[in-house]
Amino acid sequence: MNSAAVAGIERILFTEEQIDQRIRELAAEISRDYQGRTLKLVGVLKGSVFFLTALARHIEVPVKVDFLGISSFSNKSGAPGVVRIAKDLDESIENEDVLLVEDIVDTGFTLRYLLQTLAGRAPNSLSVCTFLDRQPRRIVQVPVNYRCFEIPDRFVVGFGLDHNQLFRDLSYVAVMKPDKSAP
Ligand code: IMP
Ligand code: MG
Repeated sequence: MNSAAVAGIERILFTEEQIDQRIRELAAEISRDYQGRTLKLVGVLKGSVFFLTALARHIEVPVKVDFLGISSFSNKSGAPGVVRIAKDLDESIENEDVLLVEDIVDTGFTLRYLLQTLAGRAPNSLSVCTFLDRQPRRIVQVPVNYRCFEIPDRFVVGFGLDHNQLFRDLSYVAVMKPDKSAP
């Protein structure tokens, strides 16, 4: 969906053209860093799917693709950070050069859990590529090797990111009106 007049959206943060341009730059950087190797892109369902496929098309080393799905919960006191794998990878990552592809790194809880889990499976290397990085809300420190954009502390949708499962299909990234993104 491409219409800018979408209910609940306050303003566009990154246009389709800006996203395409930045993904090409990032893919060139990744292609240089992994020259001579085969890359396994591991996407986190569902948010990263749109970014991963766009990125993969511009990477110039051979790529494999696999996905995992996670569930996040709040604990009894309401604090976030409880993550588990709801759908595991189809294949082993042992001896693979793995690039974990995320839609957004926010508090860092999800990424920390995923890195710990995947590191235990003996990949040859393990790096992180995220579409969006919202540093102001970081609670746990996590390594981010590649990022498309840094964003301010506002809830965003589009290009894979959802609000109640909607808006993933937007070809741009937009800031939600505050009342629409309230938990
Ligand atoms: P973290 O564990 O706090 O880093 O959570 C990251 C996850 O929260 C992402 O993978 C998204 O699914 C979700 N998320 C965080 N911020 C946003 C947002 O602004 N829009 C949509 N989803 C978000
Ligand atoms: Mg997510």
